Amino acid sequence: MIIRKLRQHERGPVKDFYLALSHEDRRKRFRGIISDETISMHVDGLDFSQHTILGAFKQAQLIGVAELVPGAEESELAFAVRPDMRCRRIGTRLMERILVHAKMSGKGKVFVKFPSDNAPMRWMAQKAGMVVRTDGDESYASGELPALSAEELSRWFMQEAFAHSDYFNVLGIERWESLATQPRLAAPQIRKTLDEFTTWSSHHLNSNPSQRREHRS
Ligand SMILES: CC(C)(COP(=O)(O)OP(=O)(O)OC[C@H]1O[C@@H](n2cnc3c(N)ncnc32)[C@H](O)[C@@H]1OP(=O)(O)O)[C@@H](O)C(=O)NCCC(=O)NCCS
Repeated sequence: MIIRKLRQHERGPVKDFYLALSHEDRRKRFRGIISDETISMHVDGLDFSQHTILGAFKQAQLIGVAELVPGAEESELAFAVRPDMRCRRIGTRLMERILVHAKMSGKGKVFVKFPSDNAPMRWMAQKAGMVVRTDGDESYASGELPALSAEELSRWFMQEAFAHSDYFNVLGIERWESLATQPRLAAPQIRKTLDEFTTWSSHHLNSNPSQRREHRS
């Protein structure tokens, strides 16, 4: 799985991801009865330069989103994972990564609000060392962040670099496969080049696995 920071041009996939959530998941994520319009407004209001929006990807599909919205004294966190991908520690990994981003941006304190019946979110917050307080239907988890260690900093650097390059490798391979299998999408001259490349690659790469590795790297 790839986790990486999302950019301004990825607002559309984030919106689609949230719009696909059921009413129950929307209640847990946004705390209330949330319409499609409210979700659209929320995503339109995200500031990708000020907020940290992380995406978890399975191949090129967005399967989880974590948000860090900075406030004057503390920053708010929020999470959502695609229903069929839950209970695989994706939420936990998003939490770990977003806390490093929070430390990187000098945030001393983070919190997350959730309905008190949200057991996975409560557990995720507790595992991350946050203190959870419950007041009726609402729970509030918060934690002070220690300074970033040198080890975390170097791990962050490596993870960021690999996440982006892995994702673009995946994207390249998926785009290539979709072009190669949908001839009508390609103009004739591109089609000719694709055909020549397909013939060349199936001859050279299939017969020599080390060359295939070289080609993909
Ligand atoms: C909360 C959410 C992000 C967790 O995502 P996830 O990928 O399933 O999280 P994880 O797999 O890391 O699981 C978190 C922990 O909760 C536990 N858990 C899962 N379902 C549980 C349940 N019904 N009761 C108790 N614990 C549960 C998991 O076992 C896991 O603990 P473990 O690592 O010790 O096994 C996901 O459930 C979700 O998207 N919910 C809808 C939106 C939401 O509630 N957002 C949170 C408010 S901002």
